[in-house]
Amino acid sequence: MLCMAVIMTSCTKDDDGYAPINRALEVNIPVNFPPIQYDLSANPPTEKGFELGKKLFYDGALSANGFISCGFCHEQRFAFTHHGHQFSHGIDDQQGIRNAPAIQNMAFLTEFAWDGATAHLDLFPIIPITNEVEMGETMSNVLSKLQGDSTYQKLFAEAFEDGKVNNENFLKALSQFMVLMISADAKYDKYVRGEPGGEFTTQESQGLAVFENKCASCHATDLFTDNSFRNNGLPPYPGINDLGRAEVSGSPADNYKFKVPSLRNVAITAPYMHDGRFGSLASVLNFYSHGVQDSETLDPQLKNNTTLGIDLSDDDKTALIAFLNTLTDKNYLNDERFAEY
Ligand code: HEC
Ligand code: HEC
Repeated sequence: MLCMAVIMTSCTKDDDGYAPINRALEVNIPVNFPPIQYDLSANPPTEKGFELGKKLFYDGALSANGFISCGFCHEQRFAFTHHGHQFSHGIDDQQGIRNAPAIQNMAFLTEFAWDGATAHLDLFPIIPITNEVEMGETMSNVLSKLQGDSTYQKLFAEAFEDGKVNNENFLKALSQFMVLMISADAKYDKYVRGEPGGEFTTQESQGLAVFENKCASCHATDLFTDNSFRNNGLPPYPGINDLGRAEVSGSPADNYKFKVPSLRNVAITAPYMHDGRFGSLASVLNFYSHGVQDSETLDPQLKNNTTLGIDLSDDDKTALIAFLNTLTDKNYLNDERFAEY
């Protein structure tokens, strides 16, 4: 089933007639992307590893109450964000303080979470699993649940050479699933690569020009993020004093800096910002033109002489939204490889 959708390279043991084996999965790197950051040689994706990672991603057994899976907060139709939720809410309906970001093109990033809590994709799942308001579980409990499950025993045995149901293989399988989650087939990509279906309207072209001028310094490359942490001038959210990057670095110079998010699929990932405070792209643009607040760590690009924020006319805003809509990748949102069973 999976085999049809994914390009495979044959594995060495394939041709000699022995037992069915696990096949390598090729990671198709889009030509318009910057270099991949994930070390594929340390965890080469395979058909069985991916399949196992996908089952884990959608399995509530990773949480204390057996109900909250990764997919509960990361829904494919909404580019793996938690639709309709400003803040993530997990176990026992408890609420976190951050909005669930899209999961896509993770293999090309170097820091994960709004504050860069980890710099390795393999380690990321430990955060939601052990977070008491997300999945509220311990790694050792998760592993003993899986170890006692004959289906998982079989899947781990097929996916990994040592066949062990352990921490390392568990995390590697989840990464294999996420590494394959590449979104690079939006109208914008077709435009950039000169493919059919990529003809921009006048308004979309105008929007691209405004974007390149006023946004692309931070939302850089075809990933639409430069992977840095910046303060874009959001006033601290009432009642929540989330310091962002400073929560990790401990440095006041990082106060209120958050990871520059990718804008791929942004038209369908509302609400926006680390705290999901804006319900629409129009309100995001009104914020950039009129709402940016000065502070010691405000990004210098948003502070020109005496004016704060980004100068945007109404036409600029309309054109920008038309452009941002070209980043929606329907193939990704409907790709069966990533769909819940
Ligand atoms: C209760 C909701 C919830 C659950 C369950 C959940 N996540 Fe998340 N996810 C979030 C939120 C919120 C963030 C942002 C966290 C932060 O910045 O502190 C996030 C961030 C991420 C990121 C980082 C994305 C980026 O651009 O930096 C990845 C990867 C991810 N989650 C994968 C997973 C995986 C894998 C699981 C299951 C093991 C999982 N999530 C379970 C809500 C959730
Ligand atoms: C100085 C760097 C910088 C510039 C310039 C910039 N942004 Fe951002 N942008 C950020 C950061 C940082 C965030 C996340 C802030 C947060 O959540 O605290 C962000 C968040 C966003 C989001 C929310 C995405 C999401 O998934 O929640 C959108 C949409 C956005 N920016 C669009 C734009 C547009 C359009 C422009 C140009 C008009 C622009 N940005 C210019 C740094 C920048």
